[in-house]
Amino acid sequence: MTRIAIAYHSGYGHTEVLAHSVAQGVRDSGAEAVLLKIDSAAQDFDPLIDEITASDAVIFGAPTYMGDVSGVFKVFADATSRAFFTGGWKDKLAAGFTNSHSFAGDKLHALTSLAILASQHGMNWVNLGVPPPNVPAAERGPDTLNRVGAFLGLAAQSDNVGPDISPPAGDRETARLLGVRVAEAAQRWKRGAATELAEAA
Ligand SMILES: Cc1cc2nc3c(=O)[nH]c(=O)nc-3n(C[C@H](O)[C@H](O)[C@H](O)COP(=O)(O)O)c2cc1C
Repeated sequence: MTRIAIAYHSGYGHTEVLAHSVAQGVRDSGAEAVLLKIDSAAQDFDPLIDEITASDAVIFGAPTYMGDVSGVFKVFADATSRAFFTGGWKDKLAAGFTNSHSFAGDKLHALTSLAILASQHGMNWVNLGVPPPNVPAAERGPDTLNRVGAFLGLAAQSDNVGPDISPPAGDRETARLLGVRVAEAAQRWKRGAATELAEAA
């Protein structure tokens, strides 16, 4: 079975809600979702790094703090240099999601950091693939998909209320669709590699 790791940090639970929606999308596509929570900068990251090495793809998630990925996620990212030195993640698929309070909030910078992390590992970036809303801004509501109109990955928006209320349904569904997209791409990627091996034999 195709295995997708979801490695995420969430300080206050809002990004975590999205991680669970991404995992649902992965499962909806018949793949296995492995949720890897980054809890603190002092964590032993080796088990998480090993889980990603054993997966076909990884979806990184971090809240946007001060215009970039959270500091805790960045400590994890630095620790992944262990896999960088062995090339252990090379040619896997990767994607990403972030979440912040403002509609812009410099979320694009955080997504760019996730894409650069994947690229440094030689991974292939899968973008969001959900079109931005083609309706007047006044008609965009909590159920709108890809509300802020991002392309590189999921850029969700959360209000300063509990994660049971925010991010809204549209962002959660967009997260699920990201999971579907990555799982389907990883299944195609894996089938292609298997065909190549069979033809070479
Ligand atoms: C230290 C810190 C920095 C933040 N910086 C930003 C920011 O640059 N842009 C923004 O829109 N929101 C910012 N926020 C708001 C968070 O992105 C927002 O509350 C988000 O939902 C938190 O996600 P989490 O619950 O997964 O930690 C910041 C919050 C904190 C705690």
